[in-house]
Amino acid sequence: MKLFDVYPINDITITKAQGSYVWDENGVQYLDMYGGHAVISIGHTHPHWVKRIEEQLEKIAFYSNSVRIPIQQQLAEKLSKLSGKEDYQLFLVNSGAEANENALKLASFHTGKKKIVAFSKSFHGRTSLAVAATDNPNLVAPVNETENVDFLPFNDEATLKTYFQTKGKDVAAIIVEAIQGVGGINVASESFLQLIRRLCDQNNAVFIADSVQDGYGRSGKFFAHDHAGVNADIYTLAKGMGNGFPIGGILIAPHIKPKHHMLGTTFGGNHLACAAALAVLEVMEDEKLIEMAKQRGMYLINRLKTIDGIQNVRGRGLMIGFDVPEEIKDLRKKLLYDFNIFTGEAKPNVIRLLPSLAITRKQADEFLDALQEAIAEIKSASEVEA
Ligand SMILES: Cc1ncc(COP(=O)(O)O)c(C=O)c1O
Repeated sequence: MKLFDVYPINDITITKAQGSYVWDENGVQYLDMYGGHAVISIGHTHPHWVKRIEEQLEKIAFYSNSVRIPIQQQLAEKLSKLSGKEDYQLFLVNSGAEANENALKLASFHTGKKKIVAFSKSFHGRTSLAVAATDNPNLVAPVNETENVDFLPFNDEATLKTYFQTKGKDVAAIIVEAIQGVGGINVASESFLQLIRRLCDQNNAVFIADSVQDGYGRSGKFFAHDHAGVNADIYTLAKGMGNGFPIGGILIAPHIKPKHHMLGTTFGGNHLACAAALAVLEVMEDEKLIEMAKQRGMYLINRLKTIDGIQNVRGRGLMIGFDVPEEIKDLRKKLLYDFNIFTGEAKPNVIRLLPSLAITRKQADEFLDALQEAIAEIKSASEVEA
């Protein structure tokens, strides 16, 4: 049987990983500035995370949500402590798309309304409602097309206000990333997020903070939306939550009340996933990784701004992007194949940095030195050609 060919892949087989490094089958070491797509929060194969999963595996890996699962409550308590959203409720799922799907559905149940507002360049996942709220027609199958989602320009307060003047009362939810990831590292302004909060309050709509990529400490605060000083009604989580073990969740404000059977899942919140997620939070707390993300992020952003050849350095914490001009368009490939460094991308010409929150200053320097060398080599090769 062949694999369904939906990913353009690099011809590299990774067989080992530790901290901010991975190794291929030939023993070649790579620096991971991509964090396996923003997933590696505490570092690859962190010993505490491995131990917690192993210990849980020896006891019980899974039982359905038809019985009490105390480790879910432990996770909820740790999550409220670290996130500061103490009175919120937790519903556990398995992925980011599932988190957003459930959040949007819950908003509609709660308000009794249908209209969703999403923004240009948004990415919320590939299940039916999440993809309908994703601004990329190539991902939307005919069956997912719906008039229930309206897209407005990101960071455009005037357009959002005008829209709400006529249609506000029909809106069930506004879903927004505080830092768009797939869209190219676009930071929402504080006043834009504050306006969303006000409009949701005035129109009985639910503010959904898609924190799948920018959450879990990556921005230097637990939630990237926290930088605007507002609370969302629902936060959606995945990626960094399990450090690679599949788990997602939604945090739900206390005024949104549950009803039996309104949401449900077979695998969500299983024992093993909860053990992995608890280990992540324990390490984040012990190693002060949110503060580390802030410090390392500031260091990287400040140094990147001084590097000639790249443009428009932006982001927060360890969610950083910059534009790669046409003359050095092969930069990402060169970093991977000549300097053994993984980075992320966003179309058409953005390099995204999403390393582990535990990246060291030395590793950051290793990346910055390689970046400068790679740019210089591409430029001098093109001068020779000219
Ligand atoms: C902001 C955001 N939301 C949702 C998702 C979907 O997450 P998943 O791939 O786990 O379904 C992603 C994935 O990249 C994302 O970046």
